[in-house]
Amino acid sequence: MSISSRNNIVIQIKNLWVSLKDRIILEDINLTVWDGDFLGIIGPNGGGKTTLLRVILGLVKPMQGSVQVLGEQVHKTGKHIAYVPQHAHFDQDFPINVWDMVLMGRLGQRRGRFYSREDQAAVKSILLELEIDALGKRQVGKLSGGERQRVLLARALVSRPRILLMDEPTNNIDSQFEARFYDILKKLSQEMTLVLVSHDLTAISRHVNKWACLNRKIVVGGKNDITPEIIAEVYQCSVNRIMHDQFRHIVAAPKGEVFR
Ligand SMILES: Nc1ncnc2c1ncn2[C@@H]1O[C@H](COP(=O)(O)OP(=O)(O)OP(=O)(O)O)[C@@H](O)[C@H]1O
Ligand SMILES: [Mg+2]
Repeated sequence: MSISSRNNIVIQIKNLWVSLKDRIILEDINLTVWDGDFLGIIGPNGGGKTTLLRVILGLVKPMQGSVQVLGEQVHKTGKHIAYVPQHAHFDQDFPINVWDMVLMGRLGQRRGRFYSREDQAAVKSILLELEIDALGKRQVGKLSGGERQRVLLARALVSRPRILLMDEPTNNIDSQFEARFYDILKKLSQEMTLVLVSHDLTAISRHVNKWACLNRKIVVGGKNDITPEIIAEVYQCSVNRIMHDQFRHIVAAPKGEVFR
């Protein structure tokens, strides 16, 4: 699916408040994501990043505010959004192999009771692209963390979604595949909207066109207008030296700007 216009809003969140077990987790969130955006979300542990993705997926109900995806209430947009979760626990003995698990990603496309030849071809192609074609017959529960993460990515991508939400997908991935992973994302960003939660600021800064820093509240910025003050405010702690050095690297790297 190609992006016909970059002038369409795909995710619109207005005055969103979320409370879990009587604790405010997200406070007055406003966020607009446009067709073709590549949004990187950063923030401290417990800042609410996963919760925000779960709200966009319709898995967590807002206490207040509105969330629209592709112009509709979230529960109606299921097959257009794919999700790579942060944590996926499989029973070691759960009897499903990689091929069938990825094929399940085609459920939204399937016409009738059976998967088509096109569905099977889509699985083959995505396994090849993510270099896991040799794992097809392996039991998912017995894969390594990194192999499993690639399988989850394959399952998400095989549906050719319009929006792909990824929650720290590179956590277990080796550096060699990580470079390939970002190449794949670059290609995907031509055809879908990407939202990537990551603690790897340097890596994502090279690829995203929009940032959101989340620590209960949100601060959104374009590629070049995020400042250490904003990071400090969002993290609500002084920016430590490592963070600061990383940050200098981020703003200096993409276009060679001098950090002020
Ligand atoms: N189901 C739940 N019930 C109660 N509290 C929850 C629930 N899910 C998350 N929380 C709390 O909400 C806060 C935000 O959690 P969330 O998982 O969204 O953070 P995060 O930004 O994704 O963190 P991390 O970087 O560690 O993944 C945390 O304090 C967490 O304990
Ligand atoms: Mg999280």
